[in-house]
Amino acid sequence: MQLATIAVLLIAPVVAQFVYQYWTNPLRKIPAAHPLAHITSLWINYVRWRSVENATLKRAHKDLGPIVCLGPNEVSVNCVKGGIREIYAGGFEKANLNETFNWYAFFTNFGESNMFSTGRNKAHSTRKRMLSNIYSKSVITASPALLAQVSAIVYDRLLPRLACAFSNENPGVLDINPLLNATTMDIVSAYIFGLKSSSNLIDDPKQLSWFLDLYNSRRSFNFWPQELPALTSFVKKWFGYRLVPQWVDKANKDIEDWTDSMCERAAKVMSEGAAHVADTPVVYEQLSGALAKEAKKAGKDKKDCKILAASEVLDQIAAGFDTSGITLTYVIHELSRNTQVQTRLRQELRTLSSPILPSSSPSLPDGKAVDALPYLHAVIWETLRLHPAIPGPQPRVSPPQGCRLGSDGNTYYIPGGVRVSASAGLLHLHEDVYPQAHKWRPERWLELEQLDEEKRRDMENRWFWAFGSGGRMCVGSHLAVYQMKYIVATLYSNYTTAIVDDTGIEQSDAYTAPPKNSELLIKLQRLDS
Ligand code: HEM
Ligand SMILES: *[C@@H]1O[C@H](CO)[C@@H](O)[C@H](O)[C@H]1NC(C)=O
Ligand SMILES: *[C@@H]1O[C@H](CO)[C@@H](O)[C@H](O)[C@H]1NC(C)=O
Ligand SMILES: *[C@@H]1O[C@H](CO)[C@@H](O)[C@H](O)[C@H]1NC(C)=O
Ligand SMILES: *[C@@H]1O[C@H](CO)[C@@H](O)[C@H](O)[C@H]1NC(C)=O
Repeated sequence: MQLATIAVLLIAPVVAQFVYQYWTNPLRKIPAAHPLAHITSLWINYVRWRSVENATLKRAHKDLGPIVCLGPNEVSVNCVKGGIREIYAGGFEKANLNETFNWYAFFTNFGESNMFSTGRNKAHSTRKRMLSNIYSKSVITASPALLAQVSAIVYDRLLPRLACAFSNENPGVLDINPLLNATTMDIVSAYIFGLKSSSNLIDDPKQLSWFLDLYNSRRSFNFWPQELPALTSFVKKWFGYRLVPQWVDKANKDIEDWTDSMCERAAKVMSEGAAHVADTPVVYEQLSGALAKEAKKAGKDKKDCKILAASEVLDQIAAGFDTSGITLTYVIHELSRNTQVQTRLRQELRTLSSPILPSSSPSLPDGKAVDALPYLHAVIWETLRLHPAIPGPQPRVSPPQGCRLGSDGNTYYIPGGVRVSASAGLLHLHEDVYPQAHKWRPERWLELEQLDEEKRRDMENRWFWAFGSGGRMCVGSHLAVYQMKYIVATLYSNYTTAIVDDTGIEQSDAYTAPPKNSELLIKLQRLDS
């Protein structure tokens, strides 16, 4: 009897608190994506654990409108006004005040945070200021170092590698996916570390598969540490159970060591001076200089700068190769299904004053000329729209004073500290802005001029969200577009492609979403044969 009384006395306040919290939570007025969503986050965690979040959110927004409740402290938005404009352009932070929530902390390297993983805006913007200039469009398209690096990679590695495909037993047939990963890694790491100090994965298939195996293993265990970090460390500490196997830590360590070796080589070039312009470590030099200056001002040890720089550049090579590689896989897949588009693209590529053909080596058309090709641009843009490499939710936290989300008289008050997010994969399927949204149709980007100003801005700026928006928008977008344009131009200037086997080409349901199968077999054909 007494025991029961004690139990009631103990449990009652908890239940009362729970009921009180529910009734005073403004989120309960927002349509729930699932009957349990207002009271527990178990449902949304289950959805994420099963990797069906994109499909689930798509249905929820279709049925319930642009603002839906996913959990007692979480909301998903799928609109511009009263949605991404408030959240991302409005500078909502990645972490809450005491940083107990930061979904991006998972992207920490070497135990040190970097631009991408930093939760709070103030610390973030100091770092971003160090890097935004060298990643700006004007610097990227006019950089002599980058042009020399891309020229070396295109003429000495990529074109010879394509030519090699013709000495196979099936002439011209090759798995293009790993080659795209290799090429984007080589270009991004060359811009960061200089050609001499960076990777050469195109010519080294063994190192390529070593790296990709490590990298892919890191991806497959992100649910627990990212969504339930407290539980993950609790289980490890008290039960000795690892939700993330030890070999993932080992894989991360190997990738860190590999990055470290490129940092060391770049530092050596910096002290000795680069013999060729292509060897200039543009990003690493700028970053280590800025970090050293910052350390000096704060009276900190210069040695710490090395590890900060390493954490930063590892994030950039990872973010840089993987997203561009995914996008290029879909560019080639779509082009291989659309021979007319290929023909039109090639006609445009041949108008370049120095077309990208083996005989043109080492001269490349300059960055501005490649960037100005309208059809190439449309092909890339349409692929970024229909197959965004990061289609998944980009979580932020509502500000302490709260906010209002939604539009057209249908707005809701959101208190501070709520996880809010939008997804490029859903915004890009908005039929009013992108008619026949499921269709890959590059021409839609050429028809822009015929649209009125409002419609044009909706399509081009407001709803196009492949690189995110606001202060945490992709810093590497111009490098990404630059390299993708050169790679596509290299392939299609003198080759056609056709699909041999595209099993599993559908995008996986994830934050960064590669094809389900990492093999895309195509057949290359030289135009002269
Ligand atoms: C097609 C290629 C790419 C796509 C689709 C892409 C997409 C994105 C998106 C959507 C974000 C915001 C993510 C979020 O807030 O959740 C982002 C951030 C970022 N991206 Fe990219 N990205 C691409 C290429 C690159 C490249 C080449 C680099 C190399 C430097 C890069 C470096 C970064 C970094 C450092 C951030 C964090 C920026 C910040 O927090 O201020 N990305 N990217
Ligand atoms: C997300 O889900 C919708 C609906 O199921 C689908 O049409 C779309 O292709 C998916 N997007 C991605 C990037 O997987
Ligand atoms: C290429 O990179 C993507 C994205 O990281 C990955 O999903 C894919 O498996 C990689 N390809 C290979 C052959 O590993
Ligand atoms: C951190 O802030 C959240 C609200 O944003 C609160 O629920 C949590 O109790 C705080 N944690 C600590 C350790 O202060
Ligand atoms: C295309 O490549 C082939 C073989 O490398 C070459 O013979 C041909 O001249 C090239 N086409 C042009 C227009 O340069």
